[in-house]
Amino acid sequence: MTNQPAFKRHRRLRSTASMRSMVRENHLRMDDFIYPIFIVEGETIKNEVPSMPGVSQISLDYVKEEMQELLSLGIKAVMLFGVPAEKDEQGTGAFTENGIVQEATRLIKKEVPEMLVVADTCLCEYTSHGHCGVINNHDVDNDESLKLLAKTAVSQAEAGADIIAPSNMMDGFVAVIRHALDEAGYQNIPVMSYAVKYSSAFYGPFRDAAGSTPQFGDRKTYQMDPANRMEALREAESDIEEGADFLIVKPALSYLDIVREVRDNFHVPIVAYNVSGEYSMVKAAAQNGWINEKELVLEKLTSMKRAGADLIISYFAKDVAKWLSE
Ligand code: PBG
Repeated sequence: MTNQPAFKRHRRLRSTASMRSMVRENHLRMDDFIYPIFIVEGETIKNEVPSMPGVSQISLDYVKEEMQELLSLGIKAVMLFGVPAEKDEQGTGAFTENGIVQEATRLIKKEVPEMLVVADTCLCEYTSHGHCGVINNHDVDNDESLKLLAKTAVSQAEAGADIIAPSNMMDGFVAVIRHALDEAGYQNIPVMSYAVKYSSAFYGPFRDAAGSTPQFGDRKTYQMDPANRMEALREAESDIEEGADFLIVKPALSYLDIVREVRDNFHVPIVAYNVSGEYSMVKAAAQNGWINEKELVLEKLTSMKRAGADLIISYFAKDVAKWLSE
């Protein structure tokens, strides 16, 4: 020993499982999860999404039992996506009183009121062209779309949604939705803004699940360029000014640097959206026996907490609940 240079012994704090858990800095808790579900119009439908093993589109008659299962696992919040029977140019299904998300919300709030309902506010699942707003001259018309998005948010609040989560990436969506909610008497319903939403190939499997692939072009004129960082901070800043109560960064895994920066710069709860492609890649590798799914998923979700996320929207929430209780 006498001939060794001085160095630090970091391994002291890694010596046993008890020691490691004592010094562990970040944890996953079921309170941090929001579970996305796809509600399809029709009856007795439970369709597993081929590109998302373990995730199904379900019809209203399965919603109650699904909610009870989630609560028994300790999952207390769901994010609702609608898969309507019919679509049109305006995405009318997004804002009609008896739209599929509105019906599901009413049902959940009646049958399982302790479940928090987060309504995704977008038009892409309901428009025949698959874009997140209305089309004029071959592009999405920002200000015309805002009118329909505000109507959508108000109809979701009327149905009983606890949180409005606009994912459409139109400029001004938080301001317009906040204003419309306030005017309609929903001052206390928070807005969870998809403030930083990249135009990402990681959404592919979701578009199978929600049937929302754009029929022409892409979403690059409204969703963000994956190469950009400062733009993310501008988006987050304007959403905070417009009244956002939560900020979502989406996708999560390739954007943990952005999660960290948003965490450091803004003082609202930060939400990481662990998107469909991030789920499907892991499931595919696990089905091939190429990875240890449990360890890998817990590692990657913990990395989102380490990056500064307070909440995680994830299709893995049920799996995590089971693993954490083992
Ligand atoms: C709707 C919306 C999308 C996702 C959530 N809300 C798809 C998109 O923008 O194409 C993606 C979620 C996922 O991939 O899990 N605009």
